[in-house]
Amino acid sequence: MEPTNRESEPLERRNFLNVVLGAGVAGTIGSIGFPIVRYLLPPPESDAAPDAVVAAKEGELPPNSGKIVRFGVKPALLIRRADGSYGAFFASCTHLDCTVQYRPDLKVIHCACHNGMYDLQGRNVSGPPPRPLERLQVKQRGNEILLAREG
Ligand code: FES
Repeated sequence: MEPTNRESEPLERRNFLNVVLGAGVAGTIGSIGFPIVRYLLPPPESDAAPDAVVAAKEGELPPNSGKIVRFGVKPALLIRRADGSYGAFFASCTHLDCTVQYRPDLKVIHCACHNGMYDLQGRNVSGPPPRPLERLQVKQRGNEILLAREG
């Protein structure tokens, strides 16, 4: 009769091989599945939005004009009123998030999606927008016009 540890040897070898093969299969599935899952899932919405962005050079915007710029992942609107003062807002319409534009002919901020209108302080004055635009601060640094979050 053979010793007891010899009887268990094939079983231990089989268990060892099962563990090695299982780890290999798991590694293969992980190495294939992880990139697929990363590709399919949307990237985390980072609020890595900057606190301020350069929107224009001084003198770039003539009075009664506007310019859309990126503020992180959102559009922002810098306007220069007819009196030369600046105003800035996130450019997402408060109705259904279309991007608003400055209309120099009407001297309003206009949303073309449903004809929504805001005054030059960002207040909703006509059409379906339910709230004012979110305001941004306008700052000057050297010859640059900056937009910054309020508060
Ligand atoms: S999305 Fe701007 S008025 Fe509807």
